[in-house]
Amino acid sequence: MSDKQVLVPVLTANWGQDQSWKLAQYERTGGYRALKTALKRTPEDVLTEVKDSQLRGRGGAGFPTGTKWSFVPKDLNPKYLVVNGDESEPGTCKDMPLLMASPHTLVEGVIISSYAIGVAKAFSYIRGEALHPIRRVRAAVEEAYQAGYLGKNILGSGYDLDIVVHAGAGAYICGEETALLNSLEGRRGQPRLRPPFPAVAGLYALPTVINNVESIATVPAIITRGKDWFLSLGTEKSKGVTIYSLSGHVKRPGQYEAPLSVTFRELFDLAGGIRDGHHLKFFTAGGSSTGILTEEAIDVTMDYESLLKVGSQLGTKAMQIFDETTSVVRTCLRWVEFYKHESCGKCTPCREGTWWLVQLLKRFEAGQAQEGDLEKLLSVADEINGVSFCPLAAGAVTCVTTAVKHFRSEFEAGYNTPAWELLPYERSTAWATPAVEGAAK
Ligand SMILES: Cc1cc2nc3c(=O)[nH]c(=O)nc-3n(C[C@H](O)[C@H](O)[C@H](O)COP(=O)(O)O)c2cc1C
Ligand code: SF4
Repeated sequence: MSDKQVLVPVLTANWGQDQSWKLAQYERTGGYRALKTALKRTPEDVLTEVKDSQLRGRGGAGFPTGTKWSFVPKDLNPKYLVVNGDESEPGTCKDMPLLMASPHTLVEGVIISSYAIGVAKAFSYIRGEALHPIRRVRAAVEEAYQAGYLGKNILGSGYDLDIVVHAGAGAYICGEETALLNSLEGRRGQPRLRPPFPAVAGLYALPTVINNVESIATVPAIITRGKDWFLSLGTEKSKGVTIYSLSGHVKRPGQYEAPLSVTFRELFDLAGGIRDGHHLKFFTAGGSSTGILTEEAIDVTMDYESLLKVGSQLGTKAMQIFDETTSVVRTCLRWVEFYKHESCGKCTPCREGTWWLVQLLKRFEAGQAQEGDLEKLLSVADEINGVSFCPLAAGAVTCVTTAVKHFRSEFEAGYNTPAWELLPYERSTAWATPAVEGAAK
């Protein structure tokens, strides 16, 4: 590991503290100071600070947050801020720990962001199965009302804001921003046709800003420390710090907060590297929908631009790490089964195509693939890609195409050898098993 500072805890700084989710503890460590600072400035000024910090959305697409806020018509009211806490991408686990450990960071971020955008009502949409985070955020909102941080005339500033905490019903597609709006309105969670974009006609057909939990939770730190501090971290185009989640065959899985100039190797070392006696086979950079990378990419900087150059994406910064005992065919099948299950069914290529991908992958897994199946797998993937209504389908396809690109021989073995014979599954799930000699790489 290089001697540059790898970990820079900002959003995660208070996670280990006693009762970090309580208002009193949050205030003891400087909580709500940013709100007091922001309320002394004009909303335009706050918006400019966030825009100039070059903060980019942490929900996957990396769109500049301040620019998104400035798209909302100033004089059209009411307008809304909706916080996306659906977090369901396989491997992604940064928003839920944040909501559990420090819900007030989000609440403070929502108040400052709403003030900047000119919103009087904000919604926090949280994945329905995440009962504990929902309870934590509800309790934090209640505490904030009692302390005068929410409601009418916040801290005597004349600014009013209400926050509604909404529990989703548990569907991955409801993380897609327009499906989320439908779900919030009580409709079926399916993506909407754009235009109109949510900034013009979003929730209840009114101007709406939708941002990820981490994007909004980053705002208080930018206000307290200033845009120049944020700009001093990261790379030329990917600024600031962010939370990376590492899971799988590493010794210390968890969340690691670092500047966007960190390399995968540095994060991997922080997580203790691969379990003893094993070596890295493949990993995802930003969740399963960003495809897989191999050891060749170990020194790539984990920022938006560098990952695009190696055919991946920063996505949700969810690194799932697999050692040489893992069957890539099996992993791919599990991911595609997820996308098939979560396909909302609105468009045919995704609804039918993910079903076909699963059927074909099952044959490869069972060692019963038939002549031409590999070509068929890639052809179905190709037919889904680019013609589906929303990016869910592209995510399902990317894991297949990148898996075949890097591990074609493992798929070819599926013409006569079951994946569980090639790479016995128990070796990959059992901890501290000896490495498999000569396993397919
Ligand atoms: C299938 C699908 C699922 C998504 N799930 C999430 C999610 O759980 N959380 C999230 O913030 N963004 C998710 N997104 C991205 C959102 O559509 C949107 O880009 C994001 O909430 C915008 O916030 P940001 O600009 O702060 O990143 C998803 C997108 C797709 C296509
Ligand atoms: S691509 Fe899939 S999830 Fe997206 S709208 Fe079409 S069917 Fe629904």
